[in-house]
This record gives sequence, C-alpha cells and structure tokens, in this order.
Amino acid sequence: MQKILDKAFDLVLFGGTGDLSLRKLLPSMYRAFIEGELPEDSRIFVCSRKKDELAKTVEIVETAFKKFMLPNEYQKGTYDEFAKLIVPTYVDVADYQKGWTELTTMFDKREENPRIFYLAIIPSIYGDCCENLGRSGLITSNSRVVVEKPIGYDQASAEDINANIAKHFLEDQIYRIDHYLGKETVQNLLALRFSNSLFEQFWDSKSIDHIQISINEQVGLEGRAGFYDGAGAMRDMVQNHLLQLLGLVAMESPNKMTASNIRNEKIKVLQALRPITGDNVGRYTVRGQYVAGNINEKLEPGYLEELNCGNSLTETFVAIRANIDNWRWAQVPFYIRTGKRLKRRSAEIVIQFKDVSHNAFEESAGQLTPNRLIIQLQPEERMQLILMAKDMTQLKTELKPVKLDLNFTESSKGFKSFGYKRLLLDAIAGNASLFIHRDEGSAAWKWVDPIIDHWQENKDVPFLYRAGSWGPSEAEDLLKNDKRAWFDIEA
Ligand code: BG6
Repeated sequence: MQKILDKAFDLVLFGGTGDLSLRKLLPSMYRAFIEGELPEDSRIFVCSRKKDELAKTVEIVETAFKKFMLPNEYQKGTYDEFAKLIVPTYVDVADYQKGWTELTTMFDKREENPRIFYLAIIPSIYGDCCENLGRSGLITSNSRVVVEKPIGYDQASAEDINANIAKHFLEDQIYRIDHYLGKETVQNLLALRFSNSLFEQFWDSKSIDHIQISINEQVGLEGRAGFYDGAGAMRDMVQNHLLQLLGLVAMESPNKMTASNIRNEKIKVLQALRPITGDNVGRYTVRGQYVAGNINEKLEPGYLEELNCGNSLTETFVAIRANIDNWRWAQVPFYIRTGKRLKRRSAEIVIQFKDVSHNAFEESAGQLTPNRLIIQLQPEERMQLILMAKDMTQLKTELKPVKLDLNFTESSKGFKSFGYKRLLLDAIAGNASLFIHRDEGSAAWKWVDPIIDHWQENKDVPFLYRAGSWGPSEAEDLLKNDKRAWFDIEA
C-alpha cells in the first residue's frame, strides 16, 4: 500500500487526555502505526495541564484504547511499541508560565520535521493557544494547526476565532477539520462524479429531479448537554457536515484535484445557496425536538429529561428545502435533514433522477419508480444505483426496481473507513483538500445565521417527535407539498 508520510513528524495534541484525543485521535494514530504509516522517530506529544496525571499518561491512553477500539485492535505488544512515540507533556494551553518553556526545548534540532499542533480544546482558548505558540517560537514554516468544530456559533464569532488564529498561522497552515470529509465514501463521491462520463452527462437539472442528504442519528446528548443546548442541530450538523456534503455533490469539476481548487468550487456552491429569510423560514425549514420513545425496544428519555431542564427551545432535528441559484441546479431542490434519537443511524445522499419522458409500457407492467443513486456513508459505506428492469421470473412483462450494489466493505478487501485517521495523516502530510477553508465556513454561516435568527426572534417552538421516529410529521410534509417523499433505504 502506498504510504502517505515519508518524514518523521511531531504531533502536539493539546487536550491530549481529553475525550476527542482518547476516543478518536490517538486510536487513529495507533491504527496508522499498525499499518506502518508512522515514520520512525516521529513523536506524539500528549499534552495535559494535570501535572499529577503525567506519569500515568501511557496508562490512560491504553485504558481508553481497550474501551473505545474495535475488538482485536488493541494488542498489548503492539501498544507497548506504539507507546514509545508518546511524549507525556505538561503544559497549560492558556498560561505561558506553565510548561511552555519546557515544551519548546523539546523541539531543538527538529526544525525540518513537520510540526502539527492539534487543538483538541475548547474554541474559546484557541486564541490563547496560538498566542503562546507564537510567543514560544514553535511555529516554523513547516508547521500546521488543526482546529475542530465548532468554530464559533455564528459568522461574527467564527470570524473572531479565525482572526485570532490567523495572527500566527497563514491560511494554508490552518486545517479546519470536518470528520465527515474523512469518510472514504465522501471522497469516493468525487471519484464517482469526476471520473465517470456516465454521471458527468446526467449531473444537472436536466436529469435530476431532486437531491436528499440525511444524517440520522440514534444517539441523544451523549453527555454533551451544555454544548448542545447552546448549539442545536443547525449549528452542530447543518452548518458543517451537511453543507459540506451538499458542496461536494453540487460543485463544478475542478480543473485539477488540488486543495485550493476543490475548496474554491465548494465555496461557489455555498455562496449560491438561496437565502432563506422571513416567511420562507417557516415554509422551507422544520425544527424538531424529541420526546421519550422506544428505540430498538428500549425506552429512551426525551430531550428535556436528558437535559434535566424543564424548558428549552433548542432543536434536535432540522429539515430544510434548499435551492442553489446557478445554471446547473436551477429548480432542483436539495432536501437536507438531520436529527438525534431517530429510528435508525444512517447517513446518505440520494440523487433522484427525473421520470422517463414517456411510459411506453402497459399499465399491467406496473408503476415506474425513478432511478436513484444512493451514496450511503453510514452504517455501511456503499453506493447503489436503482434501475427499473423486467421481473425475470414472470413471462409477462412486469417491471420492478433492481439495485446495482457496490458495497465497499465487501468489494475493497481490507477496507475500513476511519475518518480521523485519514484526516490526521493528511494534515501531517500537508494535504489540505479535505479541510475547510475560512471562506467556506464563513459562507456556510452566512446562509445558516438568518434562519437561526428568525427562529430566535420569533421564539419558534420546535415540533415534537417521538424518539425512534423519523422526526416530526412536518418534515414529511415539506416533501409531500412538493409531491415527493424522504427515501427510506430499508423500505
Ligand atoms: C459531530 C456532532 O460533529 O458529529 C455530534 O457534534 C454528532 O453531535 C457527530 O453526533 C456525528 O458523527 P458520526 O460520524 O457519528 O455520524
């Protein structure tokens, strides 16, 4: 297998013993280590401001691996080898007097090695962290900073955070992560679109009736009540993951698949999103909040119970009918939806093609269903093309939908998609294609902000939906009004 990294690197994980590092980042590095992806002499600084925990860092990481990794991934011997890369580091991100001088001395004679500063910390201290990185002289021309969402809670606050980071890093050194872009099927979407003439010909309003993008979750708050209640599904999922997927589906072909070309094309799509304002907010958006209900025969509490609070207008579900005002997509609605505590965990993009212009078959042949291309990201990574064909078991012509099924888990031997691993290796290698440019984030906020403002100004009360359902019935109506329906992959 082709290797991504060819040079020993220094990865500095601020918030190294926090949830994100222990669940996602360090397991990703371990997986890359097993695959021989980590050059010898590389170092992973696991930073924490808990001095008393420092000696136990390797143990803390090991315990997390046992808990969060897939069965058989953690092996004692391999872990011990991997652990040699870990440098337990005491540093207080926000206080230059605490640990920064010691950290700096560990980088002597390593100017040439890529340095990656991963800010797995709360965004309110990104500015302090970058300030201290600048002050310590640790930022070389071969350094990059990786930042996690949420970057801000609206366009203005995102700009503040970005401006603080930009005081110390150039835009091409700033890697804003969206873990959805690390999913292999998402990247395969680009391959599918831009290396097959079959799709190139049919990827526009002449052939496509509409597009659905859904990220449905079964989980609830997962201990993040404080953050989530201030954010809601719109900021947590739509502003980033869903709009990123929409950008990839709708963008024009870049001249070359470089980071800046891909990002520029996505920005153009986001900027072409038709603003939803005034009365149109009520017409084209649906907000929901879950109440108690059964998922997999287990009674799950409602949002307010999970929150332990009697009142909150935060949405845990959003559905939107969006439009892109450009030549390619004129009159093609994009229906996007996401929610927590829904019936099933699934994420998919459904491209529904137009009906044939004339049905030449007898009525007895049955009804025609439209062709659909389904790009499934979760729970399995696969693509399916739904076509009409004759039922071969019948002498009479009876038509039925059949599936051309490309299941990557089966067809690509050994394929395992770990978004964070992919993204971390790209950040270390200096490939920014799958990271978000400042202007993309900004264009996304610009579209999302007026909708959220409208909800807030009007004290919009979310529609209630039962945990284990597909969200409020109003989300069904959003499509029903257009004589369409959400596509249920299982049905
Ligand atoms: C995160 C959101 O970005 O994505 C979470 O903050 C959400 O609320 C998660 O649960 C979903 O990611 P995935 O990969 O599990 O679908």
